[in-house]
Amino acid sequence: MCGIVGYIGKKNAVDVIYCGLEKLEYRGYDSAGIAVIDNKKIQRRRSIGKLKNLQENIKTNSIYGNIGIGHTRWATHGKPSQENAHPHTDCNEKIVVVHNGIIENYIELKKSLQNEGHKFSSQTDTEVIAHLIEKYYKNDLLVAVKLALKDIRGSYAICAICKEDKSRIVVARKDAPLVIGVALGEKYIASDVSALLQYTKDVIFLENGDVAEIKEDSIKIFDIDDNVVDRKSQKILWNAIQAEKCGYKHFMLKEIFEQAQTTQDTFRGRISDELNKIILESIKLTKKEILSISRICIVACGTSYHAGLISKFLFEKFTEIPTEVNIASEFRYCSPVIDDKVLTIFISQSGETADTLAALRLARGKKSKTIAICNVVGSSISREANYTLYTHCGPEIGVASTKAFTGQLTALYLLVMYIASIKEVISNEQLANFISGLRDIPNKISETLKLSSQIEEIAKLFQNTKQFIYLARNINYPIALEGALKLKEISYIYAEGYPAGEMKHGPIALIDETMPVMVIATNSKVYEKVLSNIEEAKARGAKIIAIANKSNNDIVKNSDYQIFVPEVDDFFSPLINVIPLQFFAYFVSVMKGCDVDQPRNLAKSVTVE
Ligand code: AGP
Repeated sequence: MCGIVGYIGKKNAVDVIYCGLEKLEYRGYDSAGIAVIDNKKIQRRRSIGKLKNLQENIKTNSIYGNIGIGHTRWATHGKPSQENAHPHTDCNEKIVVVHNGIIENYIELKKSLQNEGHKFSSQTDTEVIAHLIEKYYKNDLLVAVKLALKDIRGSYAICAICKEDKSRIVVARKDAPLVIGVALGEKYIASDVSALLQYTKDVIFLENGDVAEIKEDSIKIFDIDDNVVDRKSQKILWNAIQAEKCGYKHFMLKEIFEQAQTTQDTFRGRISDELNKIILESIKLTKKEILSISRICIVACGTSYHAGLISKFLFEKFTEIPTEVNIASEFRYCSPVIDDKVLTIFISQSGETADTLAALRLARGKKSKTIAICNVVGSSISREANYTLYTHCGPEIGVASTKAFTGQLTALYLLVMYIASIKEVISNEQLANFISGLRDIPNKISETLKLSSQIEEIAKLFQNTKQFIYLARNINYPIALEGALKLKEISYIYAEGYPAGEMKHGPIALIDETMPVMVIATNSKVYEKVLSNIEEAKARGAKIIAIANKSNNDIVKNSDYQIFVPEVDDFFSPLINVIPLQFFAYFVSVMKGCDVDQPRNLAKSVTVE
């Protein structure tokens, strides 16, 4: 999730764009750049690292112009570096582009453009856009952008300028946000309103498929069918802080609501319906290496560990490879039996967790092939693993991990089915069912997100409870652990996750009317077993909240509150069932007046032992 800014008007575009990028830095900041048109020349400055490095760069190598574009990068393709920083240009530095999103077919487009003689200078997917516009440019930037976009598959919010025409910026968006700030004699463009509120509160939100030509005194918008449309401007009444959270009260709430988009962004470009294939460009394991894997060893901490626990069920079911899951802080001090036939997988949102990094180094020292599943491109764990499968979730600001968790699950689903298909232990039909099921998940998540108000009402009834037990079975047992962790870490209520079948071996002694129980009772092969566990708890006075499917109507008489989630294959159910638990923890925390985004004693990335 990058941040883009554009400006055309009477001010110095560099100042306006830089201030806008500062407001968007929360969207990602591994590199940044600005380009302006100055006397029919493109002047471009790019720097790696924090935005202030770009400021220093521009101070020593000043540039000036009244039209320009800028970008703060959250890398998805190509490591953080100066040459991968946006803006990107065509072969002759005539056209310059900034982009937020993922071009799914950039590899094939790049090859085709290179065959036509285009020279590339970066590893990014974005640079393909600049060369495509160059290919179609016949003295009309708007026409060239429209033609270029017809070749592209994926998501994009782009700004493009051409040194031969400093009267306009051409922008477009699909599955990535872009807004236009309207003012007299000048126009602002940004990924979200936080970058332009200091200049104007009149904003036009472009819609999916829109292309727009933006001049100092005019805006012309074309819809997905190339019809000229009139998008009314809206008055934005947020202050700057509210704008960074897109109007949500906390980053955690914003990130919970982003999960339909972030799961889609994580599988985007990695599943092919027509080829019935999983495409993981970054995993370079050969078929021989995959066939020789004797065991899979997953290592992680906290929420990432819970994602690993879920994947164990899937690796063993679909790849037939014995799989174990270890907590990194324990693993690194054991004597793990690892050799070059063991595949070790390290799951880490930040890619900087000290225990997980140490475990990775231990595994590499024992010649194990290592795969990292990370959300931060260029992080230590992603750099030191043999291969990395990135979750494309954008920066996760809330300390309590939400969208990164569902992003990790999505990446793990892809990895499981990728290995299983290479081992040829699943049928084409199973693979096709997986691909169509995964494609539908963003819609199912969107439906689940609509339950937030109902969950908030239930949370009100439990805001003063002192303890909670979370129960589930089989593939959802780790979701019980995750739900309990969410409640613990942001509301400071003691909560435990248990396998529902384990209750009779001790924990049921805890059950009485002071111990509420959250239980996952969605459709599965163990649903009847869970139902009897619910009855056992209910008979001892517990208040029961059940996460269930509408078809489970017998759950109503056995529980006090029901949260009915959309029905999906049990395989995908963790992706759905975790969302009500995220909301529940969030609302209880807010009602208790806790610091939701920065809970006490916690850090977003535990880079110390
Ligand atoms: C999750 O809500 C916590 N913030 C914490 O358990 C986190 O998952 C853990 O510290 C691991 O972090 P990582 O994914 O960045 O390695």
